[in-house]
Amino acid sequence: MPTDPREADEFFLAVPAKLDDPFPDLAYLREHRPVFFYPPHNAWYVFPYDLVHALLQDPRLSNDRMKGFVDAAPAEARAGVRTTVPYLETWMLMKDGPDHARVRGHLQKGLTPAVVKRLAGPIRTAAGELLDAARGGRLDAAGEYAFLLPATVLSDLFGVPAADRPKIIDWSVAFIGFFNVVPINEATAADFVRATAEMAAYTKGLLAKRKAAGGDDFLAAVAADGGLTDDEVAGNVMLLLLAGHVAVRNLVGNALWLLLTRPEPFARVKADPGLIPAAVEETLRFEPPVTLIPRVALEDVTVGGQAIRKGQVVQLSIAAANRDPARFPDPDRFDIGRAGGHLSFGAGVHGCFGAALAKEIATIALEELIRRAPGLRLDPSRPIEWYRNAANRGPSVLPVAWDAVPPS
Ligand code: HEM
Repeated sequence: MPTDPREADEFFLAVPAKLDDPFPDLAYLREHRPVFFYPPHNAWYVFPYDLVHALLQDPRLSNDRMKGFVDAAPAEARAGVRTTVPYLETWMLMKDGPDHARVRGHLQKGLTPAVVKRLAGPIRTAAGELLDAARGGRLDAAGEYAFLLPATVLSDLFGVPAADRPKIIDWSVAFIGFFNVVPINEATAADFVRATAEMAAYTKGLLAKRKAAGGDDFLAAVAADGGLTDDEVAGNVMLLLLAGHVAVRNLVGNALWLLLTRPEPFARVKADPGLIPAAVEETLRFEPPVTLIPRVALEDVTVGGQAIRKGQVVQLSIAAANRDPARFPDPDRFDIGRAGGHLSFGAGVHGCFGAALAKEIATIALEELIRRAPGLRLDPSRPIEWYRNAANRGPSVLPVAWDAVPPS
């Protein structure tokens, strides 16, 4: 391995300002420290595409991150956080082997390709309603559009009536605040505990109705299947909201930001909206909403010549893998003509459960905005704000403007 003259505390993991553009550091680490132990996190980081791709599917690495979960909360919050464990333990995301396959298999009945296809019309309607609400050709495309659209779609999927959508958003914000803000503090923990209890009770109420009267939504299909306990269904609905809401916001925001700052590909998708799915795919590679995926070693494993010990955390860098020149020629170029192959939805048995739905929402969100907003551009009068931590990337505020058509 080449000698590494740089210290660990120079990299983006230690310097929050570098999160704005971690890609130079990621390129350096991928080349010089492909399997990198970072003492402050007591974790390994892996950067090259081929290693990340292989480790995502390696049964010697576990998805179960529940060990130490309660202890990571401040002492005063632990009793509350412990009450959420019965739900978190049901998450397919945290399970390995046959138990993972069992839970995922039952939930899959509620999110088939046919269900995603059926949602296309309602997604388009919801996108249109959000855009109609934007008067005067100005909109925060992240907060007022990309954030609200998946919340609406997930609510529809779960069978949540429109009047209760604000609850879904409130719970989602509480989950994000808890899981994505490090270190955990007492306030975010208390909010998480509250939201978990409320959402679990709410979901069980919906499930009871579907068991009694049937229906044609996700919960009705899962209820009809009958293979999961109520806690397993409630826990995994919570996971779907956490996994699906902000990531989709970030995908839509990242795609818009990339297009609005790059005239050539933007002109191409405007001229041919059929290219929008390709723009979404390349956005996923170039600016992945989820940048790191954690695993825990079940045994001692040697990776890239480094000895990873049983019990150690291994963070797989999707952002670095997706820009590996060994896999993607000219990787730092945003090129909507590429053939795909990114790892932004993971790989193997844990590969994203909602990938098809995420792409459907993002594609329709872009189609509707571009179609309805002549002269769409960034609004320079208001600043963009970024939601960036080591594991997530996307704008939280993305002001855009367009030429409002005067009423005829
Ligand atoms: C652009 C949007 C999204 C991105 C970038 C994304 C990314 C990912 C990634 C990287 C994984 C793999 C995690 C691992 O290997 O440990 C994953 C899994 C998962 N995703 Fe997504 N996701 C998105 C949208 C969604 C949506 C809309 C839903 C729900 C409707 C969803 C539900 C899940 C679930 C339940 C898992 C766990 C699957 C399992 O462990 O078997 N995701 N997602």
